[in-house]
Parts: sequence; structure tokens; C-alpha cells
Amino acid sequence: MAKEAVKYFGVDPWKITETGFESKYSRVSESIFSLGNEYMGTRGFFDEVYSGDSLKGNYFNGVWEDKPITYFEHFKGLSERCCFMINAHNWIYTRIFVDGEELDLAKCEVSDFYRELDMKKGIVTRKFSWKNVEFTFERFISMTERCVAAQKITLKSLGFKGDIKIIAGSDFTPIHEEENRNFWNEIYNENGAIMCKTQSSGQRVYCEFGANIKADRYFAEEKKCLAEYNISLCEGEQKIFERISINIAEKDTSISDEKFIADSKEKTEKLLATDYDTYREAHIGFWADVWNKLDIVIEGDEENQQGVRFCIFNLHQTYHGEDGSLNVGAKGLTGEKYSGWTFWDSETYCLPFYMFNNPQAAKNLIMYRYNTLAQALERAKEQDTKGACYPMVTIDGTESCGVWQHGNLEIHVTAAIAYAVWHYVTNLKDKDFLYNYGARLLVETSRYFASRGGFSPKNGDFGLYGVMGPDEFHMMVNNNAYTNYMVKKMFLYTLDVIEEMKKECPELIPEIESGELEDWKYKADKMRIPYDEETKLFEQHDGYFDLPHIDVNTISPDRVPIYRYWAYDSIFRVNMLKQPDVVLMLFFFSNDFTIEQKKANYDYYEARCFHESSLSPSIHSIMANEIGNFEQAYEYAKYASRIDLDDYNRNTHQGLHITSAAAAWMNIVYGFGGMRSDDEILSFKPSLPKQWKGYSFKILYRGKILTVAIKGNEATFTLDGEAEPIRIFNNIYNVGKEGVKVEI
Ligand code: BGC
Repeated sequence: MAKEAVKYFGVDPWKITETGFESKYSRVSESIFSLGNEYMGTRGFFDEVYSGDSLKGNYFNGVWEDKPITYFEHFKGLSERCCFMINAHNWIYTRIFVDGEELDLAKCEVSDFYRELDMKKGIVTRKFSWKNVEFTFERFISMTERCVAAQKITLKSLGFKGDIKIIAGSDFTPIHEEENRNFWNEIYNENGAIMCKTQSSGQRVYCEFGANIKADRYFAEEKKCLAEYNISLCEGEQKIFERISINIAEKDTSISDEKFIADSKEKTEKLLATDYDTYREAHIGFWADVWNKLDIVIEGDEENQQGVRFCIFNLHQTYHGEDGSLNVGAKGLTGEKYSGWTFWDSETYCLPFYMFNNPQAAKNLIMYRYNTLAQALERAKEQDTKGACYPMVTIDGTESCGVWQHGNLEIHVTAAIAYAVWHYVTNLKDKDFLYNYGARLLVETSRYFASRGGFSPKNGDFGLYGVMGPDEFHMMVNNNAYTNYMVKKMFLYTLDVIEEMKKECPELIPEIESGELEDWKYKADKMRIPYDEETKLFEQHDGYFDLPHIDVNTISPDRVPIYRYWAYDSIFRVNMLKQPDVVLMLFFFSNDFTIEQKKANYDYYEARCFHESSLSPSIHSIMANEIGNFEQAYEYAKYASRIDLDDYNRNTHQGLHITSAAAAWMNIVYGFGGMRSDDEILSFKPSLPKQWKGYSFKILYRGKILTVAIKGNEATFTLDGEAEPIRIFNNIYNVGKEGVKVEI
């Protein structure tokens, strides 16, 4: 695979370190040192002024603006409005003056620069010396009190004596780079508190801060609320400046500004009564609990160890299910690319991580789709179809995709919602969710596909025509095997659920038109799944095998991303894949396929896949493990766990690949651990890469922690509660506290 690592950050099992500052990596570092707590996120830009290249990005999950999508003519069914998460205020805004000179790392000579992210604690620190003063900065965004973000600056005299001036506050002037403008109007700015409103969506953010040192004065500038602190330092002395920033976002536009300000003031007063160290301790406690419950330990491979912990860390920072109206953006809260949008990544890649760590978060991810059903019903009508058609990319439930080929043709996104219901219920047995919410999602998505598909006049097969599968390098194809198979399975699952509900809770069955169930059964039975019995190959879509061949290994790593170097339509004329499609289907429905089928299809499609999507390599690693191709399994795994730390796709500066972080987690648990979750009980086929001495991981299984540890030629399974049946290789064991050991 043509990808090369950029080695810039230090390797450590628990920390990401940067020793010496190289301005050419400033944006990459800003992404890597991002902090967030699901509610808000801040890139790792410097607290103080930095006049070099920087994206001072601060984002609130689900705080957006919108803009029209224009075409030269009105085409029915194409999305005409795009929502995007906007850059909000810089809560850590700071200016530092020593001897009248302002600190700016683009201009000042500093020595001994060091920065680290401590993933065990969720804290970023930075240190350097300038003008005989050692500066140490610390920051965190509280995981236990979502409106709280905290900053600490330690000033230590290394011979300096005199005054250091700090101006600190909240700044609503940052530009949203993708649109090259600022979206905030100032509504209120008095006595160290500020409230601004977005220009068209009318969403608001209130910010106020408190410090351990008394301000010499509070003052306001346009869209900035500031305070000045003068700190005198004697020779050899150390002084600490701590600041707690309270950041409150209000998306409900029906609440008046006056009420929002009054409520925020009251809330702020309470939150500012707690000090820095107390918030810090609670925050560290949150992370200790996370690591205790789900750490992955890899022995003998510090790079992958660091990489996989970085992935887990960022998944939790982005989403942990506290607020059901939120979701996981492909770049989380770490940048503007992908606009804070939710993709199908949430249901397919992220859901397993949450299902086996944080069931409430998993449920909330699906509830987000239930809560946006009205928009999906509306969208289906616009597409001349029935039921619910879910958007390719969204914040508020409507389609925001401005490239119609994706927005209109990637209908596999809707199948992923039904798949998520099935996957979640199969594993978490949450019948309450299924009967009250899941069933409606199943019915409306089945209804959509039944109306979206058609019958072949040649042989009467039912199929989905004019689609784009997960592999986005083939557009407007017929009968994409992945999509058709998903839909067939989900038709059948919907019918099973309705049958079950007839017995269990007939009153909760969603409204179904007469003949619909029979129609879905017929269409499931007639669904075309292009397959060649002799070669055991599933054809990705009708006609795929006829496409001209291209050797993906001949494409140079500096010609990526492909979209920038290849004429758009030339991508569609060859058999190169962007990301797994058939291979993904074999993984999702592992039990349905034989090892011979998996091997034949993996080998065939592996040679044709370019892995342009960051979601791609881990799926190949998982499948390579299953078919015993351990060399490739290991090779692909490193791209997943270190995609951002080693900037493999050369776009880490834009933000982190958060949903690929979930793929990296799957890479260990489903890949090397060999877990499969598409049956009534979990199964495992662990293997140990020869590069590792051993590894272990924990998952939450039926409310208990299952620990899987692999060392030498032995795998040990332990459950911290009453025993549960688990399939390990070909046998079912009752795994409990005393543990089960098997040879691998
Ligand atoms: C992939 C999509 C994915 C999106 C967000 C694209 O490059 O092709 O499948 O949903 O990135 O991660």
C-alpha cells in the first residue's frame, strides 16, 4: 500500500510528545493535541498569540450555520442546503508580555520547547523558557462538567525579576476558515462575561471565566471579553495563574436572550465556586475509570500501543453518549473539514466500540437517527420514494452533501441504520429499544428500499439500481453486492421482528400497509447478489468484472488524494476501489460466508483496493487475520492505529480521523482478537502477530467486563461476573471469573 509515515512525535505508551517546535508541523500538532469532551472541543493551538500558521479552532458539537447549495438549474431531490459546524470562541485566549515584549513563538527565541498529551489523565502541557522565565502551560476540558475548560500557566523565574503581564479572556473573533468568515454577533459583553449569537441559525454561546489571581481590570473589545493580570516575579520565584472558563451553548432558539444570559450567570456562579484542582482531579478520575474498563495493552510494540490508546482517547473525547442529540463527526471536534457531519461511519464503524464499552452511548447513536426520522421521511418523498431515506452527511438530520453523486446515490447509508438496530439488539438484547424505537426504523427503512428498488425485465431479479456503494470510486452502478445484501438481510430481520412483536407486544407494531410484509419477503427472496459459483467471487456490482484493470501499486504516494490528481470521472472508469465493499460485507455478516469465499474475495479485492479512505486498512487487516494472511494483517493494522500520529494521509493538519479511530479499535478486537458479533453469542479466534510479545483487551459483555489476554500460544478469557457462553474457535465455553485458557 502506497503510504509513508511522517515520524515527528515521540513514542511513549501513554503520552504523545513533541520535543522542539517545528513550525511546519504546527497544524498537525494542533490536531494531535486537540482536547474535547463531546460537548466542546479545542485544537491544540497555543494559549498565547502565535502569528505563524495556525487554525485556532474551537467547536461545539452541533452548533452550526447553514448555506445554500447552488446548481445551475433546479433538480428535484438534490440537497439545497448545507449545515456545517462552525468555529466558535477561543476560550483560552491569552497574551503574555515580558519587559514590554509580547510572547509569540513565531517571532521570539524560546528554548527547551516540550509538549505532551498525557492520555492517562487527559491533560496537555507545554513548557519552554524565554527571557529567563520558564513557562509551563497546562489545559484540560472537563469530562465530568461539560461546560468547564481550564488553563494553568506556571511562571518560574530562572533569574528574571519583574512584572509579567497576562491578558486573558474569551475571543469570538476567530475566522471559520472553510468559509473565510466569522459567524458570531455580539449580544452581551460586560464585566468579564460575553454572549454571542450565530448569524443565521440563532444559536448562542455564553462564556465567563474566573481566575485564582485578582484581575487588575476587566475590559471589553469587540467580540472579546478580557481581563488584565500583572504578576510580579522575584528571582528564583514561581507563580501560578489558573483560569476556569465556563462555556455554555444554547441551541434552542425559542429561549430569549435575557433568559439565556440570566440562566447562564446563575450556572456560572455555581461552577466557578469549584477550584482548578478539584475539577482536575475529577477529570483525571474519569479517565482512570475509562482506562480501567477498556484499555488495550500491547506488549513489545510501543508504536501500536501508543496509536491504539490515542484512538481510544479520541473516541471518548468526541463522544461518550452523555447527550442523545449529539453524534460523532468524522473529524470530531478537531477541525473544520467534513464540517462536523455525521456519516454512516457512526452506525458501521463506531457503534461496535460503544456497544462493547458504553451501551448508553451506543443506544444514543441510534436514537439520534430515530430523533431525525421526520427529516428522513421528508427526504424519501423528495427522492420519489417511500419510508425513510437517511442523509449521507448531516448535522440536523437533513442532507448536507453538496456532491449529489454521494448524497443521492449512497443509499447504503440508510441500510446502515437498520443494520445498526440489528447489530445492537443482537448483542445487547435491548428489546425495549427494539419494540419502541428500532422497529419503526426497520419498517421505514424497509419501506424505503422496497420503493427504491426495481425488477430486472431479463430475469425478474429484484435489485437496487443507480447507486454508489461504500466504494466511492464507482458511481451510479446497479446491484452493488454490499448494498443489496444489507438490504436483503434487513428486510428479513424486519419480518422476524414483526413476527416477534405480534406475540410480545402487538400494540407497539408500527403501522404497516396491507401486502407490505409479503412484498418485502418477495423482494428479499428475489434480491440479486452478483456471485460466481466457480471462482467464489461476489461481483462488486453488475459489470464490475468488465472494467479495465489498473495496478494500484503503480500509483505514487505523492499523488494522493486521488480526487486532487485524477480527473473526477476517470476514477469511475477502472476497477480500482477506494475502500472495502464486498470485503466489508463478508466481515459484517461473517457467519453467512465460508472461509473459502472470504479468502477468494479478499485476495481478489485486496489487489484492487487503493485505501484512499482512512476507514479502509483496518477492515483489510481484520479479514487478512481471518484468512491467515498474518503479514498483511500486521501491515494494515499500523495504518489504522497511527493514521494521524504518522500523518499517513498527509491531512492530519485538517483534524483527526475520529471514525477511523473506531476502526483501529476494531482492528485489535475483531482483527487480532478475532471477535465476531453477528451471532447470538460472541465468538473469538485470537492470533498473536509475531512482532508482539502479547496483548490484552477488555470489553463490556452483558454488563460484565470480559478480559481477553493473549500471550505465547495461549489465550485467556475472564469475565468479572456470572459465567456467559462464548465461542472460542470451534467450541462454546462458559466463561466466568475463574477464566478459560485455550491454545491458539
Ligand atoms: C469515505 C466515506 C466516509 C467518509 C467519512 C470518505 O472518505 O469514503 O465512506 O463516510 O470519508 O469518514
